[in-house]
Amino acid sequence: MQTEFDMFYETEVPEDELIVSRTDFSGKITYVNDTFAEISGYKPEELIGNPHNMIRHPDMPRSVFNNLWETIKKGDIWHGYVKNRRKDGGYYWVYARVSTVKKDGIPTEYKSVREPVSREKAMEMQNLYDKLRTEEEDTTRVVLYIKNDKLEEAKRLEQ
Ligand SMILES: Cc1cc2nc3c(=O)[nH]c(=O)nc-3n(C[C@H](O)[C@H](O)[C@H](O)COP(=O)(O)O)c2cc1C
Repeated sequence: MQTEFDMFYETEVPEDELIVSRTDFSGKITYVNDTFAEISGYKPEELIGNPHNMIRHPDMPRSVFNNLWETIKKGDIWHGYVKNRRKDGGYYWVYARVSTVKKDGIPTEYKSVREPVSREKAMEMQNLYDKLRTEEEDTTRVVLYIKNDKLEEAKRLEQ
């Protein structure tokens, strides 16, 4: 059986720092701030030039991103809760605002600025997204609970 314990490690997003990235019109990353790199577990040079879906978490429903793209392409600002996947397989929740960057009134890029999400809100959104995914994609998240002493043993066996 394939086991991925790392999937369960949540990274706390610091209260006083914003996580910023920018993309071109196709969603390729053009800029990340240091906090983005640190939280996602990647180096800036590993992120820049790659599509933003490199940090997509499998728990995110398709419709959320469809709605994001529809909204920003119209020139509107999108707000929403996003669960992202870290390089090490862990995850972190953010509240994101995605908007168009303009230079002299002409759209040049998209940018996203994110802030932390409370534990209660993250749990609420996890339940909502689990339902959406089941409806949209016929996929279900399976969570296994394991006692801590057994977890250590299982991790050792996996290596
Ligand atoms: C400025 C900007 C920031 C984005 N940030 C994220 C992000 O943090 N996580 C994410 O999964 N997708 C983000 N996206 C959406 C991705 O481009 C992509 O639509 C999404 O990951 C779904 O991938 P897929 O369309 O290949 O399935 C962002 C898009 C834009 C324009």
